[in-house]
Amino acid sequence: EVYQYLLVETRDKVGLVTLNRPKALNALCSDLFSELNTVMAKFDEDQSIGAVVITGSEKAFAAGADIKEMRDSNYIDNYKTNFLGHWTQISKARKPVIAAVNGFALGGGCELAMMCDIIYAGTKAKFGQPEIKLGTIPGAGGTQRLTHAIGKSKAMEMVLTGSWNLNAEEAEKAGLVSKVFPPEQLVDEAVKTANVIAQHSQPMVQMAKEAVNQAYELSLASGLLYERRLFHSTFGTHDQREGMKAFVEKRTPKFEHK
Ligand code: HXC
Repeated sequence: EVYQYLLVETRDKVGLVTLNRPKALNALCSDLFSELNTVMAKFDEDQSIGAVVITGSEKAFAAGADIKEMRDSNYIDNYKTNFLGHWTQISKARKPVIAAVNGFALGGGCELAMMCDIIYAGTKAKFGQPEIKLGTIPGAGGTQRLTHAIGKSKAMEMVLTGSWNLNAEEAEKAGLVSKVFPPEQLVDEAVKTANVIAQHSQPMVQMAKEAVNQAYELSLASGLLYERRLFHSTFGTHDQREGMKAFVEKRTPKFEHK
């Protein structure tokens, strides 16, 4: 399948999506996001894929929502079309998604990265929420996911000043990013990690992801209960039997994803 704004390939058990709108620094126009949703849905269904990596170019992961596309929009149109509503699909993916961020991740670009499960950054990555400079505010998680990730003071500073105050090193220190790599190694490293994840039992990986995500929704007691019940349920699967049997027999488990 050919996409206008994406390059899509598979590497072993990993789906690799490269945002490919270089002339606009991967500004996230509506069609780009629709394509991204289509690809993500396909990878989510494809049993041969265990994890997904989303990346951009070395200059820009994504420079935000498409300002030229949205500038003439008005309130009632935004409301009626539920503008940005379709952006949330990525955060609903069941398979793990790694964002490999080189260059600018601004506004909606930073928000897209934060919809993913893990963020790896290239040394020249720059994260920011510059919407305030455009006379608006973040609309796809910038005030929420960023605050969860790096805390109130840093999030407030980014959202209120609109500066790209977070480089790769700072983003890692603040906990937004889990690892930093030289730009040219970034995608390979993200794919490598995605392939490690993809070797595991897919249903277990998905349950683990669900449980971690509940930490953002539930109280501690409810979250612990949610986790415990899921943990109990894993003992109803082939893969738990096989995983523990293989350990005892000192061999690599053969997961059947059931
Ligand atoms: C539309 C964009 C764009 C964007 C860049 N371009 N960002 N077009 N929407 N978000 C276009 C430019 O207009 C230009 O097109 C081309 O990409 C190259 O960009 P330059 O500005 O010439 O590049 P450079 O000088 O290197 O500066 C890079 C930059 C700057 C610092 C990233 O482009 C920039 O500040 N972009 C906007 C960042 C931003 O404000 N993002 C938040 C968007 S609002 P032409 O045709 O002139 O060559 C947002 C709201 C989210 O995300 C709400 C919920 C999602």
